[in-house]
Order: sequence, then C-alpha cells, then structure tokens
Amino acid sequence: MYPLRRNRRLRSSETLRSLVRESIVTPNDFLVPLFVVEGHGIKDEIPSMPNYFRYSLDLLEQEVKILNSLGLKSVLLFVKVPDNLKDNKGTEALNANGLMQRAIKTVKNACPEMLVMTDVALDPYSIYGHDGIVQNGEILNDETVKVLAEISLSHARAGASFVAPSDMMDGRVLSIREALDKDGFMNTGIMSYSAKYASAYYGPFRDALDSAPVDLADVPKTKNTYQMDPANRLEALRETEMDVDEGADIVMVKPGLCYLDIVRDIKNLVEVPVAVYQVSGEYAMLKAAAEKGWLDHDAVMMEQIIAIKRAGADVIASYFAKDVIRILNG
Ligand code: PBG
Repeated sequence: MYPLRRNRRLRSSETLRSLVRESIVTPNDFLVPLFVVEGHGIKDEIPSMPNYFRYSLDLLEQEVKILNSLGLKSVLLFVKVPDNLKDNKGTEALNANGLMQRAIKTVKNACPEMLVMTDVALDPYSIYGHDGIVQNGEILNDETVKVLAEISLSHARAGASFVAPSDMMDGRVLSIREALDKDGFMNTGIMSYSAKYASAYYGPFRDALDSAPVDLADVPKTKNTYQMDPANRLEALRETEMDVDEGADIVMVKPGLCYLDIVRDIKNLVEVPVAVYQVSGEYAMLKAAAEKGWLDHDAVMMEQIIAIKRAGADVIASYFAKDVIRILNG
C-alpha cells in the first residue's frame, strides 16, 4: 500500500514536468543593463565581464534593435563619464545634452516601443566614486537627494520611461516623485533600488564605468554608510516598505543570488512588482568558471535565473538576458 503518493510520478516525463512546472522564464521578465560611452564605432569588451560591452551611441542603436528582435523590450542605461567631466556634485549628470540624455533619445529613436530605464546616482559622475556628495569624509544625504531629483527630471525630459535611483540615500524616492509630478511627469515611473546591499559583487561594474571609490584621505573607501549590511534582513523590509510609501512603482533587491531570502520576504510583504538585479560579479563568476571548464555555463545560468524567478522576482535585471533568450529559442 505505502506510499500512496509517489512524488516521482510527476517527474516521469518532460511533458509531465513541463505541465506541472511552477516557474517559467520568458523574454518579458528581463531588463537588460547597457553601458554607454562617448565616441563612434566603439564596442568595447569589459575585461572582467567577458562578452559584455560598452557601446558608443551609434552601436547602441544597433544593439537595442537586436534586443528588440529577440523580444527583450526593456533596458537599463548606465554611462561611463569622461574624467574631465567629473566633479563632487555630479554637475554633468544634469547636462540636457549629456551622454545619458543622448542615450535615452538614441534608444527611443531606434525602438520607440522600448521601455527605457535610467540609473540615477552620482557615482559615474563623481570624482570620488561615491553615490552622493562627499564632505569631510561623509556622504551628504539631503544635498544629494536634491541633485538626484534634478537628475531624474533631466532623464524624464529626455524621454526616460522610468528612473532607477541606485544610491540608497534616505528620502530620495519621495523627492524624485514630487519633482517629476511638479513638472508634469506623472507617468514617469520610479524603480527604486530599495534593498541594495554593500556588496563586493559590484567590482566588475565599477571596472566597466571606472566608478569605484577613490583612494584619497577623507574619502570613505566603502559604501557601507549608505548601502546595506549583508547581515541584515529586517532592515531590507523597512527600506522597501518606506520606498513603497514614498511612491516607488517597482522595488528592487540587489545583488541576486546571495539575497534570494530577502527577495521572498519582500515578495510576501509588498504589493508592487519586485525586481532582482543579478549583478556584475555574479555574471563574472559564472563566466570564469565556465571558461575553466569547471561549470556548464548554460545549465548553471538557467538554474540561477529560474531560482531568481522562483524566489519571487517579477523583473530580472541580468547581463545574461541575451544568453537566456538564445537557450529559450532552442
Ligand atoms: C551605482 C550602481 C552600482 C551598480 C548599479 N548601480 C555599483 C555600486 O553601487 O557601486 C552595480 C551593478 C552591478 O554590479 O552589476 N549606483
């Protein structure tokens, strides 16, 4: 008689397994991060991110058309800012004709239906490599928030559909929401990096944008006074609830794999879509292991992506997006 329930019955064929599968990945799940540089004809591989590139605007246009043809319809833009345009206050970020603003227009012109999200933070523009204004060894909160609201407005004016503040200053979502509404951008969304941890997995990204905190006296060497302590769970819930109250349309957990417990907690807590950012270091680790022949790249990648989905991600920002589509298309 025993066992009445044989769990292996439901696993006995691929047809049955696919019938009862709980999580499914589609191209609609993805947000594709893109790195943009000044220049022409540039498609520059990032050394610590094999097969991932920085594009000049002309080649960015080609890339988004390719993404669109693969069914990848949402992008998250980051810019690499020339050193001579960096200062402490991110002045260049407000330039209506700056690289980000031109990148937004380039994508919109190439693919009008593409959803364009933009990173909002000072670090790519900061001589100190911090997400906020630095003064006497501290990262100023309220002064930075004012600039973030202005940057968001500038991106909205250039045509961004969503702004994505990644800085972890307190109160920035509300300030950005108010600034956008005041200027008539009621329909511009906010995807807030709500639970962003102070993670060593951001290393390759900082290589890509040359945006790491600089080694100078009176400049903090880490982002630990604003990004979250990896040891904390309840703090992530507080941060996220506050962002929702301040008007975030989508919240985010970052990085991905090490923080899937947080993703599930937040999915159970809030009623807005939850995004997960599988970050640069996660990408680099798998590429490196696969290069050595130690892991099966595609199989591990798909396992990671489905794990992120299963944990509760409604949106997945991932450098693997194109690779995943290649697998999905067989
Ligand atoms: C900057 C920003 C970072 C990432 C996204 N926006 C780096 C940081 O906070 O230092 C990391 C993304 C990645 O590692 O892929 N505000």
